Amino acid sequence: MITAIFPAAGQGRRMEAGINKVFLELCGKPILVHTLLAFSRCPAIDDLIVVVAPEEVGFIKKILCAIPGLKPYQVVAGGSERQYSVYNGLAHVSTETELVLVHDAARPLVPQSVIEAVAAEAAKSGAAIAAVPVKDTIKVVNEDKAVLQTPSRSSLWMIQTPQGFRRDLLVQAYQKAQLDAFVGTDDASLVERLGTSVKVVKSDYRNIKLTTPEDILIAEAFLRSEVSEMVKTLPAAISSAVHDIKHKIFKQR
Ligand code: CTP
Ligand code: MG
Repeated sequence: MITAIFPAAGQGRRMEAGINKVFLELCGKPILVHTLLAFSRCPAIDDLIVVVAPEEVGFIKKILCAIPGLKPYQVVAGGSERQYSVYNGLAHVSTETELVLVHDAARPLVPQSVIEAVAAEAAKSGAAIAAVPVKDTIKVVNEDKAVLQTPSRSSLWMIQTPQGFRRDLLVQAYQKAQLDAFVGTDDASLVERLGTSVKVVKSDYRNIKLTTPEDILIAEAFLRSEVSEMVKTLPAAISSAVHDIKHKIFKQR
């Protein structure tokens, strides 16, 4: 059994929208709903755990019960850091679950192929994370903004989610981090502290984390281009009719 945990308990400060960014709409649907539907379309995933701010639990339950097509889900309260939110989510994972995938609610564009590839690699090796090779040169800079180092780009990857782990391994990693008062920026960094090897799975550059306002424009452009691709592959006779109802297709995503 595979369970997906979605940390969604942040405040979205860098988005500057005045509300938790996962409630902002993309092509007519909240970001959180896009993300949950992406995993619900994936046959490999059995159930979902949505981790939200304690005061938003009731509100989110109301939104989600009106959405058709979701896999079985729980809505649970998160904490003050992403890591604490995931830890709270982990406490609700069934003992029948062998693999846990953790995925930022703020990454609604994750392709099904990436979810499946991470799950497959995690099943094989115990720990696997989605990532893409960096495109820009990365430099290490000190407090005076002086460059200290230019690491070779060939060994640098930008890490995304989903991050998939054997459940027992992830629970052990979270318990150790809690004991050591260690706070990491992703789930894999906690597993790495156990000395366990983590495999990178090549992902997609479209799987962005919606963080700042311009990311919304980029995400809507990606969603629109996906719908245009669907129209192109239809037989010519019906493609023009489908073109007319394109906006309805947006709403159903
Ligand atoms: N998250 C969470 N609990 C927290 C903080 C973050 O569940 N205490 C979630 C966010 O909701 C998001 C994911 O972790 O889906 C990635 O975090 P980030 O992009 O940093 O989102 P926010 O913390 O909401 O944004 P910001 O840092 O700009 O305030
Ligand atoms: Mg944050």
